[in-house]
Amino acid sequence: MIAIGNDHTAYEMKKAIMEYLDKNGIAYKDYGCNEILASDYPKYAKLVGRAIQNKECNMGIIICGTGIGISITANKMKGIRAALCHDCFSAEAARLHNDANVLALGARVIGTGLAVKILDTFLHTDFSKDERHISRIKMMEED
Ligand code: RB5
Repeated sequence: MIAIGNDHTAYEMKKAIMEYLDKNGIAYKDYGCNEILASDYPKYAKLVGRAIQNKECNMGIIICGTGIGISITANKMKGIRAALCHDCFSAEAARLHNDANVLALGARVIGTGLAVKILDTFLHTDFSKDERHISRIKMMEED
């Protein structure tokens, strides 16, 4: 189950992403927002992060204007590895090397077509499970 959260900048991008998920029979839960009025991205980052922490969902998609604020917020949460990706190479590496569990996108940075392609890459790439990557991911959680 994929958790989706976004601020007001992401209306069109989220629509395209939900169409892609529906078309591919991929289950998701929309944590908002669904307004075009100014909204606070940290709130939605946290809703998605919590859904993953409590295992309601196993992956997330978060979107704000740049993808920066929402990914910074999500990455402060234990167990959340949010990757801000605006190209398919990064999306693939984020899964292969970092076992990223959240894809962050910037709705004001890229178009919806590329966003969907990046998401498709992210969802179709498994973590490599290489020892060196497992060990580095463990190190992320250490003080
Ligand atoms: C909203 O204006 C904008 O600051 C937000 O969408 C995001 O880009 C923050 O990082």
